[in-house]
Amino acid sequence: MIRDISKLRKSYSKNSLLEKDLPNDPFFLFDNWFKEINLKSDKTEVNAMTLTTIDSLGYPNGRIVLLKYYSSDGFIFFTNYNSNKSLSIQQNNKVSISFFWEEYERQVIIKGHAHKTSEEVSTNYFNSRPKGSKLGAIVSENQSSVIKSKDFIIKKFNKLKDEFSKKEITRPKNWGGFKIVPIQYEFWQGGENRLHDRIRYCKMDNMWKIDRLSP
Ligand SMILES: Cc1cc2nc3c(=O)[nH]c(=O)nc-3n(C[C@H](O)[C@H](O)[C@H](O)COP(=O)(O)O)c2cc1C
Repeated sequence: MIRDISKLRKSYSKNSLLEKDLPNDPFFLFDNWFKEINLKSDKTEVNAMTLTTIDSLGYPNGRIVLLKYYSSDGFIFFTNYNSNKSLSIQQNNKVSISFFWEEYERQVIIKGHAHKTSEEVSTNYFNSRPKGSKLGAIVSENQSSVIKSKDFIIKKFNKLKDEFSKKEITRPKNWGGFKIVPIQYEFWQGGENRLHDRIRYCKMDNMWKIDRLSP
């Protein structure tokens, strides 16, 4: 049976992205878009991004992670270093992150290289997390591995909760951040009649080359 969803269709017309508005450094455009959306949007997870890695068989794997810090140096998220994504990054640190901000009809795709953050950055962020999230990180010590049941993980959580009721929870060594250092950005702004604006920035000899792409 085929479900016909071909009538799901939306027109885009809210904004445009013109050459006169482009900064030399794409970081500033990302920052402006992010700040604007974060301030005005009802959407709570504006920092949710799809991280795509390539596994050892050459397959791409995308999943959502949360952006926690960004600067012109790179984009930082946190995870378990034993997870599938981390093992993939260890073998091939070429990754992409992408954001879809539906309310603003915008997409940003960033390609770059992922590097582990310093212990200090990982520890500082870990220490800022609520206790439940800290415990969760310890419970899922081998993120992405097969587990027996949900019950298994809940029991483990409750046991650790008792154990750490009066003890400080320190960052597990296999939990920390990755910083993605960008080599390319693409900004997409939805346009009427599918004539979207697509602006690509590529890093070349420490400068950013700007091109407009066919929608
Ligand atoms: C909204 C949302 C936010 C998430 N944030 C994170 C995150 O910051 N870090 C993380 O490791 N996983 C996060 N996840 C879970 C991942 O999508 C994924 O299931 C998990 O990291 C295991 O991925 P892997 O097996 O490909 O390594 C998030 C999922 C969602 C839906």
